[in-house]
Amino acid sequence: MSPDVAAPFAKLSVDFVGSFPEPTHPLDPVLPEVAFLGRSNVGKSSLLNALVGRRIAKISATPGKTQLLNAFRLPDFYMIDLPGYGFALASHGDRLKFRQLLQGVVEQRERIEGIIWLLDIRHPPSAEDMGMRDILSAGRTPTIVVLTKADKLSRVQQVKAARERAAELEYPPDDLLVTSSEKKAGIPELGERIRVLVAGFGAQGSGLGEATTHNG
Ligand code: GTP
Ligand code: MG
Repeated sequence: MSPDVAAPFAKLSVDFVGSFPEPTHPLDPVLPEVAFLGRSNVGKSSLLNALVGRRIAKISATPGKTQLLNAFRLPDFYMIDLPGYGFALASHGDRLKFRQLLQGVVEQRERIEGIIWLLDIRHPPSAEDMGMRDILSAGRTPTIVVLTKADKLSRVQQVKAARERAAELEYPPDDLLVTSSEKKAGIPELGERIRVLVAGFGAQGSGLGEATTHNG
């Protein structure tokens, strides 16, 4: 992709910190963190790339490959790309491992300030999505629900689908953010919400902007 200077984090330097198998692996220096969660192929890597306006995360042709946390430093906060869940060919053991990994991230990562949870706007949440929802609502980490691939639907269909997804999840409709990484829709809004999450928690001298509080 050619660099997109209008992307919300286009001006920030991005360093790939590394890949870690352990949900509690500490990052140095200690900074606020947001993590990207969603089933395999939902568009996590594409969304990360859309936020920074360049290609930092690999868009996968073969889903379900990585089982690692991939951390990027931006430089005053971290974005963590979590492995995708719900891969059709995953074994029972793999599914259990994923559940434990997410639980570890949500419940034990000290500096996790938000989870960006992705769902395909076109499909009702799967059983595994609902399992994730239960882990997320049991924890105290704020969650931003992002509906992906909106460009696959017409405007009218988008509004209808977003309302349906909210009802299925039992979330307030306004908490769901409709996005398209392909068409860059909803990406500035998501960038703003991430700034709010990481700015409220000690990102010093970050110049992260005077964002308003949001308890999404
Ligand atoms: P895993 O890393 O395997 O868990 O997948 P992922 O969630 O990172 O998804 P990824 O970003 O690799 O995208 C999966 C597929 O969906 C790719 O073919 C992307 O091109 C496509 N895709 C992602 N976002 C969008 C979008 O906004 N619109 C459309 N039309 N396609 C998208
Ligand atoms: Mg990915």
